Amino acid sequence: MALIEELLVPRVAGGSDGEVPAIQKVLDHSSPTDLLRSMLHYKNAKIPAKVNGHYSSLSKNDPYYAPIGNQLAFTPRKIRVVTVGAGFSGLLMAHKFQHRFPEMDAIVDHTIFEKRAEVGGTWVANTYPGVQCDVPSHIYAFPFDPNPEWTRFYSSGAEIKQYIVRTTEKWNLDRDIHFNTKVVRSSWDEERGQWKVTVNDGGRSWDEWADVLINGQGVLEQVYPLSITYQWPDIKGLQDFKGQRVHSANWDHDYDYSNKRIAVIGNGSSGVQIVPQMAKLPGTTVTNLVRGPSWIFYRVPPSQHLGRSGKSGNNPNYTEEERKGFREEPEKMKEHRKAMIARTNKAFRMFIKDSNENKEAMKIAEQQMRERLNHEPRLCDILIPKWSLGCRRITPGEGYLEAFSLPNCDITNSGIKHIDENAIHTADGKVHEIDVLVCATGFDVSFRPSYPTVGRNGIDLREAWTQKPESYFSVGAKDMPNYFTVLGPNALAGHGSLLEGMNWNGDYFVKWIRKMAEEGIKSFVPNTAVVDQHVRYSDEIHKSLVWTSPCKSWYKQGTTDGRVAALFAGSGMLYRRIITGDLRVEDFDIEYRSANRFEFMGNGFTEFEFNPNSDLAWYIEK
Ligand SMILES: Cc1cc2nc3c(=O)[nH]c(=O)nc-3n(C[C@H](O)[C@H](O)[C@H](O)COP(=O)(O)OP(=O)(O)OC[C@H]3O[C@@H](n4cnc5c(N)ncnc54)[C@H](O)[C@@H]3O)c2cc1C
Ligand SMILES: NC(=O)c1ccc[n+]([C@@H]2O[C@H](COP(=O)([O-])OP(=O)(O)OC[C@H]3O[C@@H](n4cnc5c(N)ncnc54)[C@H](OP(=O)(O)O)[C@@H]3O)[C@@H](O)[C@H]2O)c1
Repeated sequence: MALIEELLVPRVAGGSDGEVPAIQKVLDHSSPTDLLRSMLHYKNAKIPAKVNGHYSSLSKNDPYYAPIGNQLAFTPRKIRVVTVGAGFSGLLMAHKFQHRFPEMDAIVDHTIFEKRAEVGGTWVANTYPGVQCDVPSHIYAFPFDPNPEWTRFYSSGAEIKQYIVRTTEKWNLDRDIHFNTKVVRSSWDEERGQWKVTVNDGGRSWDEWADVLINGQGVLEQVYPLSITYQWPDIKGLQDFKGQRVHSANWDHDYDYSNKRIAVIGNGSSGVQIVPQMAKLPGTTVTNLVRGPSWIFYRVPPSQHLGRSGKSGNNPNYTEEERKGFREEPEKMKEHRKAMIARTNKAFRMFIKDSNENKEAMKIAEQQMRERLNHEPRLCDILIPKWSLGCRRITPGEGYLEAFSLPNCDITNSGIKHIDENAIHTADGKVHEIDVLVCATGFDVSFRPSYPTVGRNGIDLREAWTQKPESYFSVGAKDMPNYFTVLGPNALAGHGSLLEGMNWNGDYFVKWIRKMAEEGIKSFVPNTAVVDQHVRYSDEIHKSLVWTSPCKSWYKQGTTDGRVAALFAGSGMLYRRIITGDLRVEDFDIEYRSANRFEFMGNGFTEFEFNPNSDLAWYIEK
């Protein structure tokens, strides 16, 4: 079959879950170049200063001088990419370079630095009892390898981690990972057009150079060592507590929590998963200390997703028959996944503040919560929010509301005044004597990189984003050339699975890297005014969305009325269109390696036309 040029263009913008078929290799130029050399006699020809009115031989003093080379047009150069972190983000990048865009494997020299000894990030750090995903398992999976084997509607953290490890092995995604190696500093070298990345493997520190730096360090992963107490909740006397103190993201599995008096601080997504597990243990009494209410809600009951009766529970198992069906008929699994993703996308309109959709959903959510709380007035009063549904991440909270009907589990919203050696003192004068203090108090969500990231003009992103976390569509930042981040400020993280957006981000990075490689680009950076405009317009849209309701949330960096720094201002569909559509190069300041940006035109020929199998009239339509 004749090759047509269209087939040779990699489907970088493709958003399908399917694999892109391998395309013809684009890097083997040896034979066409030889052929061209003999055809064009560039090497020894004496070319007059002007030929037929053309500038044929520019003087070296001409500002646009660039020597004509022998290489074919769009010949890519090798690009060294360093990715920080081997959670979903880093592994998605490994897959992009190794498999989804196979031609990139020859273009990119990729290294992933991972400070831990294993892959999985979030799912390695968070192993607290009850940890599970809060979106259906079937949509929380690598898009290139959906998993027919999920055992439950919402999978446990352990099952997610196993799946990550299995997928890594299957696709050889750890090929370029350096484990136990922490990135401790990165700085942009203007002259080289590269990042100097300083890494440390515990014993040794050294510098690596990268044309492109991808930060996949995650935002919900950073807790700080026990010694740095101020990163724990800022509660007077926290350090004085003599019992077992544990953070949700650093669970101590060696301790026996049964037969203990346990306090759980927080009712975010982590707290609501921990409380029922602690209450289930023999001989425990559990007190959940909260500062405010939280929407605990199943928008669509899991049973409905599975086409079952409402009696199948809030986290039904997939039957062996269902799993076999998914395994043997991938189309069936795809339909199942698509139905859930379509519902999620459709439901975004529910996040319009004060919209009928939001009010309607709030009514249903309130009713659902009242039922799950057995209509107990005190509990309903403490837990059912007045602010808009969705203002904080909605969580299904399996078993959380139900736990307060147990005799050993209670909740208080009386503020914590202080903690002493063995008790928490609350504003209502009560003293809660405890053996265990669980802090499900969240993360450092300032978005700043965990190490100095010094870009153009000496700007350190770590400082800049502490003050003002402002990004270009969550993937780029002012003054940070050749820099990408996954899940940066204003990411697609407010509804549905985060993995979809992260996957589109990976495709976006590949597009840029490919362009950079083929078109002699030295650096690209989002234009400052463009970022400012993006932020301002987004802030206006946010005013119409539920996140700006008066709830306290990490979406607003732990404030009630702060700027929405975490979420994209719009629907997933809009984000996808912008980020997977044509590259908005007009939003970037670009510098070239050559004085003449058209040096990428090489000797004036493409590789395609020298391939004997090419159809050189492929573009004729009729
Ligand atoms: C408990 C919990 C449950 C969640 N549940 C869901 C859910 O149900 N659905 C959903 O969509 N999202 C969920 N999330 C969000 C989740 O974080 C993302 O879905 C996703 O796992 C993020 O992947 P990541 O690779 O970007 O970051 P991470 O998983 O955080 O991985 C970052 C990696 O970078 C490494 N790293 C960090 N700094 C350095 C450094 N300086 N040098 C080298 N390596 C470094 C870390 O060790 C880590 O391995 C949850 C988050 C938490 C905390
Ligand atoms: N798959 C899942 O189900 C899942 C599980 C865990 C986490 N996650 C992800 O991780 C994000 C973070 O979840 P998270 O629960 O770990 O953190 P979080 O949502 O930030 O919740 C932290 C909780 O701790 C409370 N808190 C913090 N400091 C406190 C203090 N000094 N005194 C008293 N209470 C304090 C907060 O109260 P205020 O609200 O009053 O500030 C809040 O209830 C989620 O939004 C979600 O994206 C998902």
